[in-house]
Amino acid sequence: MAAVKKRSSSFMFSPFFLFSLVSFLSLSDAVTRSSNRKVTVALNPGAPSPPRGGELLHVRAEGDNDTLHFLFSSQGAPALLLVHTNTSSSTVTVNWPQFEARNISGSLKVEPESSVLYSTAVVFSRLLEYDDVNDTAEPTFDLFPPYELQNFTWSRLNLSGPTALLCGAAAGPAFAGGSLCVQLSVFGSEGRGQSWPRLLHTADSAQLAVWLDGVLPRATRSRFLLELQTVGGAYPPDRVEVHRSIDDEFTPSIFKVSRWLSVENGSSEVLGFLQWKPVAYRRAAPALEDATPCRHSEPQPRSGAAAAEASGLVLAFYEAPRAFGLNVSFGLAGEPFYNSTKFFSWTVLLGTGDPPVDSFSPLVLAMMAVGLGTPLLLLLVGGVCVCVLKRAAASASAAAYEPIN
Ligand SMILES: *[C@@H]1O[C@H](CO)[C@@H](O)[C@H](O)[C@H]1NC(C)=O
Ligand SMILES: *[C@@H]1O[C@H](CO)[C@@H](O)[C@H](O)[C@H]1NC(C)=O
Ligand SMILES: *[C@@H]1O[C@H](CO)[C@@H](O)[C@H](O)[C@H]1NC(C)=O
Ligand SMILES: *[C@@H]1O[C@H](CO)[C@@H](O)[C@H](O)[C@H]1NC(C)=O
Ligand SMILES: *[C@@H]1O[C@H](CO)[C@@H](O)[C@H](O)[C@H]1NC(C)=O
Ligand SMILES: *[C@@H]1O[C@H](CO)[C@@H](O)[C@H](O)[C@H]1NC(C)=O
Ligand SMILES: *[C@@H]1O[C@H](CO)[C@@H](O)[C@H](O)[C@H]1NC(C)=O
Ligand SMILES: *[C@@H]1O[C@H](CO)[C@@H](O)[C@H](O)[C@H]1NC(C)=O
Ligand SMILES: *[C@@H]1O[C@H](CO)[C@@H](O)[C@H](O)[C@H]1NC(C)=O
Repeated sequence: MAAVKKRSSSFMFSPFFLFSLVSFLSLSDAVTRSSNRKVTVALNPGAPSPPRGGELLHVRAEGDNDTLHFLFSSQGAPALLLVHTNTSSSTVTVNWPQFEARNISGSLKVEPESSVLYSTAVVFSRLLEYDDVNDTAEPTFDLFPPYELQNFTWSRLNLSGPTALLCGAAAGPAFAGGSLCVQLSVFGSEGRGQSWPRLLHTADSAQLAVWLDGVLPRATRSRFLLELQTVGGAYPPDRVEVHRSIDDEFTPSIFKVSRWLSVENGSSEVLGFLQWKPVAYRRAAPALEDATPCRHSEPQPRSGAAAAEASGLVLAFYEAPRAFGLNVSFGLAGEPFYNSTKFFSWTVLLGTGDPPVDSFSPLVLAMMAVGLGTPLLLLLVGGVCVCVLKRAAASASAAAYEPIN
């Protein structure tokens, strides 16, 4: 790309360039515009008093003829539930005594139940730490006892608009000056996250950013993994596909995107997804060198009952949950250890329908158009000139023969 940039910079202001840029921008705008949703936020809807054991946030994203309900809860391990209904008037009802008791399913309902098209939940179940003595980034040996996120002490939800921040700490000295935080953002329209990896989102998705900040590692060479579980009724997300992505101005130096998909049996239609770029950042306000690659393990079937025990939200909504789990590991061999900054952050998108796909940004496309278009134009002009000259030469020679005839 750098070569293209250099080559093309002198053509940036040519009328040809500006014309193609303008026509491209208006075209791409028309293609990518999607419907917006009306987003409303309610904390602990209908609860008589601040609930015991964790809060519940309901974000309602209403479309013209459908509604997405995002439910985010710290009742146990942090979890986000997405329910898509085919009407703009569906509601969420919570039986608070049952929800707080966490011993029976059905305490959270989306009504009318016949309007539910699709639902899925993601649960952040465990934080794992290992001593990478030989700097191999293979977490098979030397795992410390895992941090069970369901046993954390979680803060009240800190709301600002359609964004909610939840921070928690495990008992013990390691978390004395640090915390694990999960931040939910719901958008209501298409766009990009504010900070790296600047994931593309639609009105049908919500973003979760997770970070571990200031926690004391149990070894100098500690690295971390985060265990996630997806939960669903008939079709929980059960497969991860890794696709090529482009290295653009939004997520520099990352060429892949991972999609954890929920697909109906025998169909190619994607019902829901988790999507992330395999990158974490070692600082809260990162520079490019603070990016660190991450990897994921293959999703494994997990016990739905265990997921319901970990998250009160899963228990409350699902009668017979099915679950899959995987680990995301942060850092590769040779990368700095957690102790270097005592921070990492990672971001994932949860949504329904097809996941958004990155395309080249208008700037990069314009560069390419100029980089490729200019030589073509020169070739064309050159070709025309050669043709004209040849014709001229041919008619000249024809003219030269005429007197003889
Ligand atoms: C839902 O609304 C969209 C746009 O407003 C429309 O294109 C679509 O046909 C509607 N679907 C149904 C099932 O009414
Ligand atoms: C659930 O817990 C509540 C209060 O802790 C109790 O009154 C109720 O009997 C329990 N229900 C079941 C089904 O265990
Ligand atoms: C929503 O789905 C239910 C069940 O699939 C169906 O009975 C109902 O007619 C649908 N409503 C709309 C508005 O499409
Ligand atoms: C680290 O390397 C040493 C020497 O090669 C080896 O004995 C040890 O088992 C390795 N430790 C781990 C956790 O891989
Ligand atoms: C975490 O919670 C589980 C289930 O609630 C419990 O079995 C386990 O002992 C707890 N672990 C710690 C370290 O408190
Ligand atoms: C809530 O979050 C804002 C920033 O998002 C922060 O400035 C504020 O201190 C937080 N409040 C609490 C009580 O943590
Ligand atoms: C973290 O690194 C510092 C030096 O950078 C070192 O003094 C400290 O002991 C390390 N912490 C742990 C837990 O190993
Ligand atoms: C989907 O297929 C799997 C096996 O291929 C089967 O176990 C499962 O019950 C099917 N689910 C539905 C909802 O048909
Ligand atoms: C995550 O990694 C730990 C340690 O290797 C393992 O015990 C656990 O089963 C893994 N979880 C999943 C969902 O694969």
